[in-house]
Amino acid sequence: MSGITDEIKTRCNIVDVVGRYVQLKRTGTGYMGLCPFHGEKTPSFHVSDSRQFYHCFGCGESGDVISFVMKMDNVDFMTAVRKLCEQYGIDMEAFGFGRESGKNEIYEMNREAARFFFHAIADRPNPGREYLQDRGLDKTAIAKFGLGYADGRWHSLLDHMKAKGYSEKQLMNAGLISQSKGRYYDKFRDRVIFPIINTRGKVIAFGGRAIAGQDPKYLNSPESAAFSKKDNLFGLNLSRDAVKNADQIIIVEGYMDMISLYMAGITNVAATLGTAMTPNHCVMIRRYTTNVVLSYDSDEAGRKAALRGIEVLKDAGLNASVLHVTDGKDPDEFIRSNGPEAFRELVSRAQNYADYRLESEKRKYDLNETDGAVRYIRAAAEILNDISPALADTYVSKLAGEAGISQGAVRKEIEAVSRMRQAGAGGRTRSAERTATEEPSGAGLNLQRTFLALAVQNPQYIKPISEYESVFTDRNCFRLFSAIRSIFEEDPGTDINKVFDSMDAADAELLARIRETILIQDDPEKLFNDCVTRIRINELQKRHRELEYCLDVIPEGSGDRVRELMDELKHIDGELHSMKQKFRSDY
Ligand code: CTP
Ligand code: MN
Repeated sequence: MSGITDEIKTRCNIVDVVGRYVQLKRTGTGYMGLCPFHGEKTPSFHVSDSRQFYHCFGCGESGDVISFVMKMDNVDFMTAVRKLCEQYGIDMEAFGFGRESGKNEIYEMNREAARFFFHAIADRPNPGREYLQDRGLDKTAIAKFGLGYADGRWHSLLDHMKAKGYSEKQLMNAGLISQSKGRYYDKFRDRVIFPIINTRGKVIAFGGRAIAGQDPKYLNSPESAAFSKKDNLFGLNLSRDAVKNADQIIIVEGYMDMISLYMAGITNVAATLGTAMTPNHCVMIRRYTTNVVLSYDSDEAGRKAALRGIEVLKDAGLNASVLHVTDGKDPDEFIRSNGPEAFRELVSRAQNYADYRLESEKRKYDLNETDGAVRYIRAAAEILNDISPALADTYVSKLAGEAGISQGAVRKEIEAVSRMRQAGAGGRTRSAERTATEEPSGAGLNLQRTFLALAVQNPQYIKPISEYESVFTDRNCFRLFSAIRSIFEEDPGTDINKVFDSMDAADAELLARIRETILIQDDPEKLFNDCVTRIRINELQKRHRELEYCLDVIPEGSGDRVRELMDELKHIDGELHSMKQKFRSDY
């Protein structure tokens, strides 16, 4: 199948497309004009019609017709593709993009529905507004979040949308109406409506809160081409700047938690909507911060969700900490009775990964019983093997004190678990897996993304990067890299945009974003070498920690072995020192 990008490049002449934004003059090798990406008075922006490529000799921007539209209109890959297809009459569905166009239609219907619900709550007194007032949300909150009211009749939205020209089939597709025995009726009735809006401002779904005790308490739009719960965070569209500024995001469970915190001035917050934290949430969060505070309900379900959540966050290389409100069942109730300052205080005391897991574990045992104490230390040793040895060591004296056991015994337990995992002979597989590959730290992820950007912009680096394949510890990055590689293995001369073609929309978007955000300037060779140096430094640092750890725990009287370890340590110190001096890149 020839891909949609090929079709676009055959049918949309780059000279035409660029010519709409930039006045171009014919030259020997193509066309020249003033670069739209940087201010200039003499033209250095070159467009080649034979190669269907542009390049600015001033600022170095370059690319094809699709990346031109992406940059000019500040849109993502798929939006640029869609736009060009519309302009040039290319049938996207013929290229398997039917779902994509369906997505846009749903966005439009949802926007119209959101407007309808909002007018219903804002224009006249109604039970929805009363309900929200009782819960402390005024007109400002309603306007800020675009909240709405779906009345108790069966056809209010249906009639409105039909008058706007939408068919029942389309409305069913968007999940706005339901059908029973051949009759259509509004899905949301007698509910307060929370529009779920993504960071690109699209209304992707709705949540409806029952106001008359109906079941279920919350009704959500079905999963559709436009909406997938595991890929979205409620409220991030409003909070992302605050998240960036605070360099921290507070993750809550519910609509009301998010809105209450936000309206109380704690604006770096978003909600997972009652579902578990997913790797996709992590990818999204990482665009704004690496520091995540989970603030789930204080009930058993909330605690379980937090324990799962911190693992997912840690696996994604994010710094996770956890708090549970001390008064009321959730952040919404807490802040209502204690105010934002008290909540901020809780945030500042949120527990880090190890503290939280240790505390959760401790609740299960009676430390006054020897048996309980020993079992607690065993469990604790498992946890401490999930974090760096140096950090783990700082917990030893505390644990020993709690369990009334010597520090030496605690260390032995930790080592026993570590040995068991290394031998692959026991322990829980998940933890064993985790120690097998170094967790992707923030820097590790940057490395992976830089490699991806290099591979996609300079395919000749795919092979050398393959040598370092093991750096792709992030699932998404690994999948993207494998996809790029297999396409180039099949056809080394292929066009890079084929890669985008062959991926599903979410992956194509992720890759396009990486390509956009990581600029390979004029020296890809240096960038590649820097990455390799960075990898070597990481390896050395890891070995360094191991050696320090060995020296810490080695039994008395192993003089020779100590000397060996010290020698290796010194050697590594030396190598690290000289590498860091050479290495002045900052990722
Ligand atoms: N949720 C859902 N469907 C349900 C219950 C909950 O989708 N039947 C989601 C909603 O996004 C909700 C979140 O899970 O906001 C948290 O659930 P819960 O703690 O029960 O709701 P609260 O936000 O505390 O609801 P309220 O304060 O309105 O009672
Ligand atoms: Mn709740």
